[in-house]
Amino acid sequence: MKLFITSLALYFSVINLALAQQIWSPNKTFSLEFSLLEDGSPTYKLSYLNKTVIETSRLGLELKDDKKSLLNDFVVSEYSEATFNEVWAPVWGEEKEIRNHYNELAVNLKQQETNREMIVRFRLFNDGLGFRYEFPAQDNLVYFVIKEERTQFAMTGDHTAFWIPGDFDTQEYDYTKSKLSEIRGLSEAAVTANLSQTSFGDTGVQTSLIMKTDEGLYINLHEAALINYSCMHLNLDDENMIFESFLTPDANGDKGYMQAPCNTPWRTIIVSENATDILASRMTLNLNDPCAIEDISWIKPVKYIGVWWEMITGKSTWSYTNDLPAVQLGKTDYSKVTPNGTHAANNEKVKRYIDFASDHGFDGVLVEGWNQGWEDWFGHSKDYVFDFMTPYPDFDVQEIHNYAKLKGVEMIMHHETSSSVRNYERHLDDAYQFMKDNGYNAVKSGYVGDILPRGENHYNQWMVNHYQYALEKAADYEIMVNAHEAVRPTGLCRTYPNLIGNESARGTEYQAFGGSKANHVTVLPFTRLLGGPMDYTPGIFEMDMSKLSPNNTSHVNSTIANQLALYVTMYSPLQMAADLPEHYEMFLDAFQFIKDVAIDWEESVYLEAEPGDYITIARKEKGSNNWFVGNVNGYDSRTSKITLDFLDKDKKYEAIIYADAKDAHYKTNPQAYSIKTKKVTYKSKLSLVSASGGGYAISIKEIK
Ligand code: NOJ
Ligand code: CA
Repeated sequence: MKLFITSLALYFSVINLALAQQIWSPNKTFSLEFSLLEDGSPTYKLSYLNKTVIETSRLGLELKDDKKSLLNDFVVSEYSEATFNEVWAPVWGEEKEIRNHYNELAVNLKQQETNREMIVRFRLFNDGLGFRYEFPAQDNLVYFVIKEERTQFAMTGDHTAFWIPGDFDTQEYDYTKSKLSEIRGLSEAAVTANLSQTSFGDTGVQTSLIMKTDEGLYINLHEAALINYSCMHLNLDDENMIFESFLTPDANGDKGYMQAPCNTPWRTIIVSENATDILASRMTLNLNDPCAIEDISWIKPVKYIGVWWEMITGKSTWSYTNDLPAVQLGKTDYSKVTPNGTHAANNEKVKRYIDFASDHGFDGVLVEGWNQGWEDWFGHSKDYVFDFMTPYPDFDVQEIHNYAKLKGVEMIMHHETSSSVRNYERHLDDAYQFMKDNGYNAVKSGYVGDILPRGENHYNQWMVNHYQYALEKAADYEIMVNAHEAVRPTGLCRTYPNLIGNESARGTEYQAFGGSKANHVTVLPFTRLLGGPMDYTPGIFEMDMSKLSPNNTSHVNSTIANQLALYVTMYSPLQMAADLPEHYEMFLDAFQFIKDVAIDWEESVYLEAEPGDYITIARKEKGSNNWFVGNVNGYDSRTSKITLDFLDKDKKYEAIIYADAKDAHYKTNPQAYSIKTKKVTYKSKLSLVSASGGGYAISIKEIK
């Protein structure tokens, strides 16, 4: 009997082989094989350096209320191959030019019984694979509802993964490092701990997911160009080590409403034996369309401070009064209520922040809690909390606008939607116009709480379309967007570079809400950041939260040197110096790095990296000869050895090195750092010890 099964398997593999079609990446490191199984199910297989990375995996979609899903019964009607090779210039980014080079295989499939057509388009790059489903215009497939996408990613073993649990409403988790086989159980526990609203399965994880095989290969699974579709999670069959797509449902449990011609986002697999190559991958951006905005002159990187951390830590409040348990927007006369004395967004304080920004060369000032409604803004599913235009009595929009203009500082608007999405959409034109009328060119939006309409959640198609609507409308008004709690980015900033930031992961705020893992920032660049920049809000110098707010027992799990390094390691064209001005005034020598560091880059060099342990990156400022280096370190103290061979051979430089002091430690001694100045050339070698949860930052300037 055993013999029979073996020969049967052999028979099938011969059949498969006969139908298989293979392409190679431009540098021949990857090969992709497409084949149909006996029953006409499409499959793919990915190899790297002649070793299988993704075992034969099924492709297809299950349709709702349809006599036949798009899973099997296919024949290939045509294979077409193409090559693409171009260099494009991002509006802002980690380098001034990006190469987009791939070989493409488009497989036109015809379903025999229904005569339906579906194309699977593969793009094989030198750093991995992207593929998507396309549904051409046709008579037999016009409107359809997706019950589930059934794309598989069959792993070759029990890899080590850094993952966050499958959740439809939040990504703000610490990463868990475990074997794939250990995800079961841990996933559910993590969701419960985070008090999430909706999640699925106890083996469900979110993308972007980074894994490492026992042989030392790094694999990242994610998606690119998420437009008019639900965000993809992954469900693991942990007996067979097969991930399968699990789309975010809508209020009815449906996964996607489609009308041909249309397509899915790209499913992406980035692979390398070098962790640094994963950080250097531009595949996600390359799979997005070129810039759709014609005049980009108004889109600019922004370094900013904000009236923010003091509310996050509990030192002050967004709200104006404690008197009213339930304020009614438009009905409450705020001039008659008693102020609570802790409302931070008042004229006097905001002017102090503007002065500080102007004195230290920051581009912008964010102010939260400027508008009415914060007394009862979430938890009660109130539809109408904010109108995004009515300030509290102590915040004079015009006066602040004039003052900021005088000081050469841009104001950044805050729109907390409280997830009342239709309310936001109803106000959007007026709110954006109000911004323009008052000199605001950038908005931080937010989606805290349960989505209204009820039953929708943060990452389904309906919400994905909302974020896109708000972004495109912002472009019409020449407004830059930084959306918090929105769906995780998938490289859309290439097409819409006014999307200068997103949160969409666990940001610095959690350091004030109980703390994050000290190695969190050594994982984010391998996961969340592959889709686009994060408004991580670094730059905290006072780590003891009780010093800001006596009842806050939280501790920022990071050293000051680590905080400085984040401006280099966490790439973003939008960088905040998040701590209070008075804390920077206590450490002006370290603060100098935040003032100096660039936010737009000509070139980036990924020097060393290991997820969970360390990342060291060097970047050259756009339009100058200045370089900045950042190293963030995980839990184990470590000596980082780097050579500055990225510097120009014929130039001399001066380096200012901001490092952990010998006795620094993220928990016990986070504020201990040293600053040393040194002459360097391209031959210089540095050996620097980073503390547990520490790191270093270096600014390197040319000297004549
Ligand atoms: C959560 C955001 O991440 C945070 O930055 C913001 O201050 C609050 N929501 C209030 O909108
Ligand atoms: Ca948040």
